[in-house]
Amino acid sequence: MSRTALTRRHILQGVGTAALLGQAYSLAHAVENRDTASFAAVVKRRRMIRKYEDRPVPEEEIKKLLRYAVRAPSAGNLQPWEFVLVRDPEVRAELAKAAMNQNSVATAPIIIATCADIQRMGEKYGTRGAFYSLVDTAFASLLILLGATEQGLGACFVGAYNPEEVARIFQLPSHVRPVGLITLGYPAEKPRKPTNKKIPLEKLIHENTW
Ligand SMILES: Cc1cc2nc3c(=O)[nH]c(=O)nc-3n(C[C@H](O)[C@H](O)[C@H](O)COP(=O)(O)O)c2cc1C
Repeated sequence: MSRTALTRRHILQGVGTAALLGQAYSLAHAVENRDTASFAAVVKRRRMIRKYEDRPVPEEEIKKLLRYAVRAPSAGNLQPWEFVLVRDPEVRAELAKAAMNQNSVATAPIIIATCADIQRMGEKYGTRGAFYSLVDTAFASLLILLGATEQGLGACFVGAYNPEEVARIFQLPSHVRPVGLITLGYPAEKPRKPTNKKIPLEKLIHENTW
């Protein structure tokens, strides 16, 4: 084989490899962009859904949401969250009463009640622990809400409830506080149009000081 032919073949091989590498690079980029785009879409699409179809949410879907939840950031990685899953209609009815008779609480096929173990945090962080445990559990709750949107489920974070009543219904130990009653199911309503428009971002941003 002549020197020229060798070189040409090598050049062609080089071009081929570069093209392949280029393709692989743009594929990786496309996947990355698709992930980014789907994250943006989920964030935009997420609205509270309060009416649900009368059919159960499969166990695997619930597990997926819980697996998202436990990826939330956590102070000292102490992971103060715990979850009470409520499917029993009688318990849901009791919870609805404790939540100012909110119908969505009684009718959702399942409620994921996110709870915060104050003690788990308090042992390391003292009085700050209570604050951290609520923040962490709220983060975990948001991941459940976003996960529900991603999976085509509807969810609502219910925070208007009597905490003592909810603690009694769940028989929570005194160091565990309920955070959110997340009602969950297949949506039977379109998300409401935002009546409460978002406060313009410029009004919310402060530079260096308030
Ligand atoms: C701390 C907290 C408590 C809430 N409590 C309730 C509640 O008890 N019942 C309810 O229907 N929605 C409740 N929501 C949902 C809000 O009403 C809702 O997020 C808000 O109106 C904005 O609508 P969107 O989430 O659909 O964008 C609560 C939200 C938060 C963050």
